[in-house]
Amino acid sequence: MFELPNKDDIVPHGIPRTPNDITEIVLKAMSHTKDDRLREILTALVRHLHAFGREVKLSEEEFMAAINAVTRLGHLTRDRHNETMVMSDALGFSTLVMILNQERDPEQISPALLGPFYSRKDPEYPLGFNISRDTPKASDTPLFVSGRVTSRDGTPLSGALVEVWHASPEGLYENQDDSQPALNLRGKFRTDTEGRYHFRTIRPASYPIPTHGIVGEMLKAQSRHPYRAAHLHFTVSAEGHRTLVTQIFPKDDPFLESDCVFGVTSADLAMEFPMHDDGRAPDPDVHGPYCTLEVDFDLSPGVSRLPASPIDS
Ligand code: BEZ
Ligand code: FE
Repeated sequence: MFELPNKDDIVPHGIPRTPNDITEIVLKAMSHTKDDRLREILTALVRHLHAFGREVKLSEEEFMAAINAVTRLGHLTRDRHNETMVMSDALGFSTLVMILNQERDPEQISPALLGPFYSRKDPEYPLGFNISRDTPKASDTPLFVSGRVTSRDGTPLSGALVEVWHASPEGLYENQDDSQPALNLRGKFRTDTEGRYHFRTIRPASYPIPTHGIVGEMLKAQSRHPYRAAHLHFTVSAEGHRTLVTQIFPKDDPFLESDCVFGVTSADLAMEFPMHDDGRAPDPDVHGPYCTLEVDFDLSPGVSRLPASPIDS
């Protein structure tokens, strides 16, 4: 790809005379990057990276440890597990990027991270369907979820797509757990003519993110726990509207303020999951206690685009 450069094409960037000169020299070497955005990003990266090295006076041992850490992130990343992404999540960087890229009305429900377990291959079900495919356990709490999808001006959005996925009460997604039936706790629904949707599932629990790798080591070194607050993931999309990616958390979850990936991006995402024991569950086969969640979504006008899945191959 690279040929020996023509003598006249070589732009000299110079030789440092003091330790401080190196940053300017590197920036000069990169100053001919043709793509404006790439030049802007790489220039800022070099400035901040060099400032970081200076600020902490990085030793050579620490530098080698950092190189090894980045190498291990790559080695630990496989088809179904992206350690690099989990590191970005645990550093709060994924949440920062998500917040920077969302324009919304302050009245609208907040977006939240997509997370590593979104799939575009989940089946579409009729309204009211139970996405819990596992044999019910006595400890499961049936959960009935319902709500409405509207445009920002309040117009109900009929035929909007509501995708939902969440972990089991043991804190594992079906793709992490061979004991769960395929596609357990995942599904898609279309809103009715009034923009309403409803489905049945079981109440999820708080769960630890994967800690077998370098992210686990970092959390341990920082005396941080690996738990995420319990949540249901949603994407909500409708033609002519910007797709909303969000998560809903039970208001009484103990990890709301210490979610290890900083996933609780706004207090409005923590909602009541009221318990009932009145024998009037929406499905007649539920006789004992059950809980409900009502969550409405309002979408901004824009382009409807589903996110790419981190796990579909
Ligand atoms: C999750 O929401 O499932 C998740 C998010 C970030 C890292 C690991 C898991
Ligand atoms: Fe999740």
